[in-house]
Amino acid sequence: MQHNVLILDFGSQYTQLIARRVRELNIFCEIFPYNKVPEDLSSFKATILSGSPFSVRADDAPHPDLSQIRGKMPLLAVCYGAQYLAHFDGGEVTPSNTREYGRANLSYVDDHDTFFEEVALNSQVWMSHSDTIKKLPTNGICLASTKDVENAAYRIDGEKTYAIQFHPEVYHSTDGKQMLENFLVRIAEVPQNFTPNAFVEEIVAELQEKIKGDKVVLGLSGGVDSTVAAVLLNKAIGENLYCIFVNNGLLRKNEFQNVLDQYKGMGLNVKGVDAADRFLDQLAGIEEPEAKRKAIGRVFIEVFDDEAHRIEDVKWLAQGTIYPDVIESISVKGPSATIKSHHNVGGLPDFMKLKIVEPLRMLFKDEVRRVGASLGIDPELLGRHPFPGPGLSIRILGDITKEKVRILQEVDAIFIEGLKSHGLYDKVWQAGAILLPVNSVGVMGDERTYEKVVALRAVESTDGMTADWVHLPYDFLMKISNEIINKVRGVNRVVYDISSKPPATIEWE
Ligand code: XMP
Repeated sequence: MQHNVLILDFGSQYTQLIARRVRELNIFCEIFPYNKVPEDLSSFKATILSGSPFSVRADDAPHPDLSQIRGKMPLLAVCYGAQYLAHFDGGEVTPSNTREYGRANLSYVDDHDTFFEEVALNSQVWMSHSDTIKKLPTNGICLASTKDVENAAYRIDGEKTYAIQFHPEVYHSTDGKQMLENFLVRIAEVPQNFTPNAFVEEIVAELQEKIKGDKVVLGLSGGVDSTVAAVLLNKAIGENLYCIFVNNGLLRKNEFQNVLDQYKGMGLNVKGVDAADRFLDQLAGIEEPEAKRKAIGRVFIEVFDDEAHRIEDVKWLAQGTIYPDVIESISVKGPSATIKSHHNVGGLPDFMKLKIVEPLRMLFKDEVRRVGASLGIDPELLGRHPFPGPGLSIRILGDITKEKVRILQEVDAIFIEGLKSHGLYDKVWQAGAILLPVNSVGVMGDERTYEKVVALRAVESTDGMTADWVHLPYDFLMKISNEIINKVRGVNRVVYDISSKPPATIEWE
């Protein structure tokens, strides 16, 4: 992949956001922990230093070696980065005695400097630091101030080095994106060539070069990531890609057949494996949520391993890993997940000993969708809500039976179809139904009923880490509730979940 911008991470909660803003400018960038700077920097055209929870004055604060970067390519230092440059080069950083958290306005801006082109005086910026730059570093020239922060931005005379104490990547910095564009495009002259089409062209060539004539196996889930990964690989290596789509018996109503047909229509070499009974047998009688997840994970590995063995001489396992997972695993805070899997190498199933290929490992979720669109994947598939790997099992509270799966599939289908036909589906990030382990008394006609309760859940979110319940229209909820109770045998009551995450979670188990 082409390298354009290097982002050095000092552990800030906003580092991923910097990368997203840079990508929005169609510029490719990669995040590296501050202590793992790549040796060969020849392909990078600019560097951005992130913020950090540390104080530069602390003994254990990150102290990166910037000798191959500063003065050798354009550099933008954000927050901690700005303080770091000052602290170690003739400036002075002290604890701030005024409040430097939240919104502030640029009361002075050097509008002759390219960095602030098209940035209005009084532009709002987002501050988040407890230290402040009292004295600029050697050759520092102040470029902007706020009421409380004199040295809000500076540059180093004679270098293309810029430093700002606020966070341009945060949405509340109104002109933040403009400043990033000024720095990257106008000052550093980085090409804006990272488009979905360019990505496809480059990754297909890279995959062909890497995999050559080998066979690759990939597990499809019906979700966006694995589908886009499969289509990319199919474009690169055609019939040498073997896809496996497992029915664990816990998918949505008719999903196994529908998605399988859709995959075949896309020209993928896919084998549908109906293992529903095998999963349901293994789940019988298990009530505890973590035990259910573990059982499903175990059976999936068994089924996938069996199938992968049928493909003669397969060399690679393809995965739909995306960039946030990669960042997590290499983060400053440490790759805990990776360490565990290394410990397990001896006991891994055979397919996990294959070489790994991850065509989407450099993309954010929204970029995966755009790449999918440029590959001609059906927008309906690309716009599907996330669906958990353990499927309906974690939405059936308590033990799982075929009958409970049937009930929940019916309820879920009515809810999801209703969202679609009322134009609400795309306004919701994730939706589904939960089957509760209680019966309630009702009355139908003149008869007393004693049947199941279901909960409906619809949330707004960007990444599933936090979520708000969606205020679905009452009329809609009324119609859906009536339809569920009238049509689904075994359900006599519908409730709507009005909990946000945190403190609740999206799934109930
Ligand atoms: P929670 O319930 O933790 O869910 O708020 C956050 C997001 O993750 C999905 N989820 C899972 N996905 N395997 C998955 O592949 C799982 O075990 C799992 N548990 C939760 C959930 O659907 C939501 O999108």
